[in-house]
Amino acid sequence: MARKKIALIGGGQIGGILALLVAQKELGDAVLFDIPEKEGVAKGKTLDIMEGTPLMGVDSNLSGTSNYEDIKGADVVIVTAGLPRKPGMSREDLLDVNIKIMSSVAENVKKYCPDAFCIIVTNPLDAMVYSFKKITGFPKNRVVGMAGVLDTGRFKSFVAMELGVSAEDVAATVLGGHGPTMVPLPRLATVGGVPLTELISDEKLEAIVTRTRKAGTEIVGLLGNGSAFFSPAISAIEMAEAYLKDKKRILPCACLLEGEYGIDGYYIGVPALLGSGGVEKIIEIKLTDEEKEMLMNSLEAVKKAVAETKL
Ligand code: APR
Repeated sequence: MARKKIALIGGGQIGGILALLVAQKELGDAVLFDIPEKEGVAKGKTLDIMEGTPLMGVDSNLSGTSNYEDIKGADVVIVTAGLPRKPGMSREDLLDVNIKIMSSVAENVKKYCPDAFCIIVTNPLDAMVYSFKKITGFPKNRVVGMAGVLDTGRFKSFVAMELGVSAEDVAATVLGGHGPTMVPLPRLATVGGVPLTELISDEKLEAIVTRTRKAGTEIVGLLGNGSAFFSPAISAIEMAEAYLKDKKRILPCACLLEGEYGIDGYYIGVPALLGSGGVEKIIEIKLTDEEKEMLMNSLEAVKKAVAETKL
């Protein structure tokens, strides 16, 4: 079986970690693409990782480029091209700049990787993945946004820290847009099969939900000059792996809804079954009235950002 090819568009903070994880997990060969001014960085990062592959005992060819022809025929494309947040900025503040970048990325992915499974990471996420889908015209099962995996990762880690248990045993999901309006569902979270609500007080749980909603901003504040990059990369790789290995994982992802949850024509976070068919199924959860209301509130924020893309 030929090795899989993974195109990483954007060779910044997240892009570099993505390349490392592709190699470390032997998912295939990776091409790290960036603009001509950053071609040296893309080449340098990938060469640096290549030189570590013998030490990790893995086989993966990595290369850096600013020539779109080099991503030709990729099986998976992960897009992180675009500006990250600085302290004081919301994800929506990135829209004007990042929509231009996303348009050129989408045109080129359409041209060179017409059959790829595409994972969008660039913020504001729900509007960026919407734009990418519009411009490429790819089927909805092959264009997905990374947000929920990261948001649940944050929620799960806060629960594990609070309870002093393994984060591995925490299961949870989150719905909605990637931002402060997201809808964590603590009602459905479990720890080793035990309902989370039986293990933690309402106040502590509320505090964890609030911290999850602001978790990206917390990191932006600490870093001072950029946004989270380790956990976003780990999250996107989990999704890529589910596709490449046909794992049939159920992961919260930004998917194009066409009637599910009473939403039509927008990308928003929902649990999805990821396998070799890409987004093979969207799982509809029975929500309480309060949860429904929160999801609709989140949809309003997504709609506002999408309207600004003018697509
Ligand atoms: N094509 C390809 N790459 C581009 C383009 C373009 N047209 N324009 C900019 N880039 C590159 C930049 O040169 C930079 O190397 O995208 C990279 C972005 O990297 P960082 O600035 O380090 O940002 P990062 O932390 O990786 O986040 C990228 O993901 O989570 C989101 O909010 C985050 O939108 C941001 C994106």
